[in-house]
Amino acid sequence: MKINKVMVIGAGQMGAGIAQVFAQAGFNVLLHDQDEDSLHRGMQNIDKLLSRAVAKERITEAEKKETLERLTPTSELRDVSNCDFVIEAVVENIDVKTRVFSDLDSYAPEHAILASNTSSLPITEIAASTDRPDQVIGMHFMNPVPVMKLVEIIRGLQTSDATYQAIQAVTEQLNKTPVEVKDFPGFVSNRVLMPMINEAIYTVYEGVASPEDVDTVMKLGTNHPMGPLTLADFIGLDTCLYIMEVLQDGFGDSKYRPCPLLRQYVQAGWLGKKSGRGFYQYD
Ligand code: CAA
Ligand code: NAD
Repeated sequence: MKINKVMVIGAGQMGAGIAQVFAQAGFNVLLHDQDEDSLHRGMQNIDKLLSRAVAKERITEAEKKETLERLTPTSELRDVSNCDFVIEAVVENIDVKTRVFSDLDSYAPEHAILASNTSSLPITEIAASTDRPDQVIGMHFMNPVPVMKLVEIIRGLQTSDATYQAIQAVTEQLNKTPVEVKDFPGFVSNRVLMPMINEAIYTVYEGVASPEDVDTVMKLGTNHPMGPLTLADFIGLDTCLYIMEVLQDGFGDSKYRPCPLLRQYVQAGWLGKKSGRGFYQYD
């Protein structure tokens, strides 16, 4: 199937990044968010990153202009009616996501493929909220999207081979590397990464070391580009907590219990970089 027009749902840090890479690869993109301020911020962030790419001479001013011309913000979900492909990047909550997919199933053309950028939630369950489960798939980008090469592609129980092949081809058109994974909680990336981040939070909770020292140990001692607490702030502590809860519920194993300190920070609204405070303070 030929994909020309794409809708990205959610203009937060992931949605804006996804919209940018699709537009840079030549697709026409509608960026949708239910919140006008988030939509505006998402478009501003894309503009800023493209300007930086121009300043670094990685793209020309003309390429920046063409990319922005392929991007249209919209607060109206029904604008999906002429899209061939949709990728959802709203909050990591199964009720919100199934509601979005059920609406999309009503408004999107019959041929359209519906993908979720979920970090951990079951694609099979998301697909079951539509009448086209064979055309629903997980397309899990990594943060920051313009930089990270991997896309985990998750097949739900009913995802068709044709849907998988179309999304594998799109991923390659974005100059990213697809890896196929089964529909299991946390897939591969977050099943491995998130328990490490949670354990790092436990070391702070138990007074073993300060956040700075935990990060220094992992950066200088194990060559991680960011320490786990800096990375948790970067991902968003709410997202980290939701993923741990999905792992705990999905496997029924207490080894995935979220650290109480993570829960408390989220309750306080300390969500990391996006809220200005997490394990560190941000301007
Ligand atoms: N958005 C877009 N581009 C960004 C960026 C952002 N938020 N942050 C950095 N970059 C770009 C910079 O522009 C720079 O590119 P140029 O050199 O071409 O200008 C490049 O990345 C390197 O940046 P810096 O030199 O400033 O900093 P760095 O060398 O420390 O790299 C990093 C930054 C790439 C983010 C690196 O620290 C890193 O790889 N961190 C770990 C990221 C990671 O693990 N991501 C996965 C998170 S888990 C996930 O995404 C799954 C999930 O479901 C939660
Ligand atoms: P975010 O909080 O930065 O952005 C979410 C956006 O979705 C917000 O702008 C919000 O206004 C919008 N939104 C919420 N409900 C909506 C709805 N019903 N309709 C339209 N817009 C809606 O979150 P994020 O970090 O971009 O994460 C988005 C998704 O991507 C989550 O499923 C998350 O698990 C996944 N993900 C996150 C990361 C990460 O590192 N943050 C990495 C990979 C995948």
